Amino acid sequence: MIIFAHRGASGYAPENTLAAMKKAIELGARAVEIDIHSVEGELYVYHDRRLDHKSSGTGLISDVSREYLKTLFVDSEPIPTLWEVMTYLSKQNCLVNIELKGMTCLSPFIALYPKLIKELGFRADQLLISSFHHGFLQEFRRSYPLACIAPLLEGVLLNTTDIATQLDAYSIHLSLSFITSELVDDAHSKGLKVFVYTVDHPEDIHQLNKMGVDGIFTNYPDKATQTLAQA
Ligand code: G3P
Ligand code: MG
Repeated sequence: MIIFAHRGASGYAPENTLAAMKKAIELGARAVEIDIHSVEGELYVYHDRRLDHKSSGTGLISDVSREYLKTLFVDSEPIPTLWEVMTYLSKQNCLVNIELKGMTCLSPFIALYPKLIKELGFRADQLLISSFHHGFLQEFRRSYPLACIAPLLEGVLLNTTDIATQLDAYSIHLSLSFITSELVDDAHSKGLKVFVYTVDHPEDIHQLNKMGVDGIFTNYPDKATQTLAQA
């Protein structure tokens, strides 16, 4: 089972910061998940659409300037650009799940993706691009037919796994609240990997492992690894 450090090792360091990425690697994580937004065309690693709750700033992240964003902190950590985070991760030989979160991040990300491969040396199979916005994934797929993509779903639709098949996805990313063995088996029968978010409790990890789930997103990657070792 692949253990993704969710927003970096966000149980131990401020989420989606360089410190959270470093902590994840220090704890032995071989995969990390990050969320991205665009600010004046530059991509930043940050989760919320508003700055108020998690940073020292205020307002919609899509409305502020890069100059303003540079002055903000998540706890004591700066909000990093995607390039800064990927430059660090490119030296760690890990898998990176980039979640397209912000509504203006698609075009800048389509422009940046080939640079991650050509300039930072990532292989296409080390970059997994996911989003709740399936239209973004469809457009991204048109630009990069060989990229690994994954639709995120909060619930279960009548055609949940068909959505992933239509997108020619590598995996489908599902919420812990709605996961069932039937859904996992259905995805596997269509050649899809199943990754589940956000899973911190040992009982849940054991249950998902028994179901044959291929990976989890967790805020405590070290604890998840220990839990699996006891299985
Ligand atoms: O990608 C898995 C998970 O991160 C999706 O939800 O809200 O934590 O970004 P969220
Ligand atoms: Mg996310």
